[in-house]
Amino acid sequence: MSRHCIGVYPGSFDPITNGHMDVIFRAAKIVDKLIVAIAASAGKKHFFTLRERLAMVRSGIASSPQKRPSIEVMAFDGLLMDFANEVKAAVIIRGLRAVSDFEYEFQMAGMNARLNPKVETVFLMASDSNHFISSRLVKEIGALGGDVSHFVSKAVAKKLAKRFSGVND
Ligand code: PNS
Repeated sequence: MSRHCIGVYPGSFDPITNGHMDVIFRAAKIVDKLIVAIAASAGKKHFFTLRERLAMVRSGIASSPQKRPSIEVMAFDGLLMDFANEVKAAVIIRGLRAVSDFEYEFQMAGMNARLNPKVETVFLMASDSNHFISSRLVKEIGALGGDVSHFVSKAVAKKLAKRFSGVND
């Protein structure tokens, strides 16, 4: 990648899963600085607040045994391409799981390229142990009392269990 390459890995991270963590650490190896960018609203109603999502991503990265080169976690509101400009990013990183992700990602990468042709979207294929994990299914399993420990960190699993038992912290 070119010069001092800044990459942005955007998402809702509602909540962060092991699949996201895998993409974060792999992406951090190919850019000089990685910004994990958490969408404040993105027109969606989130299960966890922005503050909670930021905290979960930050503590997930901090407690990982993996080497942490240059990773920053930030929130953004508005257009991703405006945020990419602000932080001088050259690439957007997205994880790609199954074929079902493709249509949405293809559209988004195309629209973003029109908005800012200088920023490339780079896809990392989910690794085989993570390709089925999604935040949506993690929440569904958690809501029904299932075991989510294979899909998210201990801290996130605890937070989900608390939330579904009606306890707010
Ligand atoms: O993890 P997600 O929910 O798939 O992430 C989607 C996200 C946040 C990357 C996307 O919704 C986004 O970029 N939102 C910011 C608003 C924006 O730029 N929309 C136009 C996209 S073409």
